[in-house]
Amino acid sequence: MATEALLKVKELKKHFDLGKNGLLKAVDGVSFEIYKGETLGLVGESGCGKSTTGRTVMGMYNNTDGDVHYEGKNVQQMTEKERFSFLRNMQMIFQDPYASLNPRSTVLELISELMGIHNLHKNKGEMKKTIPVC
Ligand SMILES: Nc1ncnc2c1ncn2[C@@H]1O[C@H](COP(=O)(O)OP(=O)(O)OP(=O)(O)O)[C@@H](O)[C@H]1O
Ligand SMILES: [Mg+2]
Repeated sequence: MATEALLKVKELKKHFDLGKNGLLKAVDGVSFEIYKGETLGLVGESGCGKSTTGRTVMGMYNNTDGDVHYEGKNVQQMTEKERFSFLRNMQMIFQDPYASLNPRSTVLELISELMGIHNLHKNKGEMKKTIPVC
């Protein structure tokens, strides 16, 4: 096992201010580490904060407290360039495929679109062949 964790989540908190309905503590002090080659499953009842944990780890939500380090870098303090590279390695797989994926696109087009954004095609011709025309 590598000595340094790939992903280090420490005392992560994400609270939602619901105005007159108070404060919703969706994530309230979650800590875990993932090492290279490891798989971690987060299990819990509906509404316990699994997706909010994922979104906050990805930086889609600003955290209320705690911190997330990926390869030693604080996710919330990354430069735009570091963030782009981070998002090449970290991806959300959303629960509802009908809301997340365009059913009019082929699987090849859907995967290719993301590869295009991250310049992962071998050449421009390959990209043109597969990118959907919107
Ligand atoms: N953007 C938001 N604003 C306010 N409250 C939110 C927001 N997102 C999530 N919540 C609330 O935070 C709590 C945790 O929600 P979350 O979606 O993280 O749960 P979950 O464990 O992923 O549930 P499920 O298993 O149903 O996907 C819920 O009470 C939810 O209503
Ligand atoms: Mg969820």
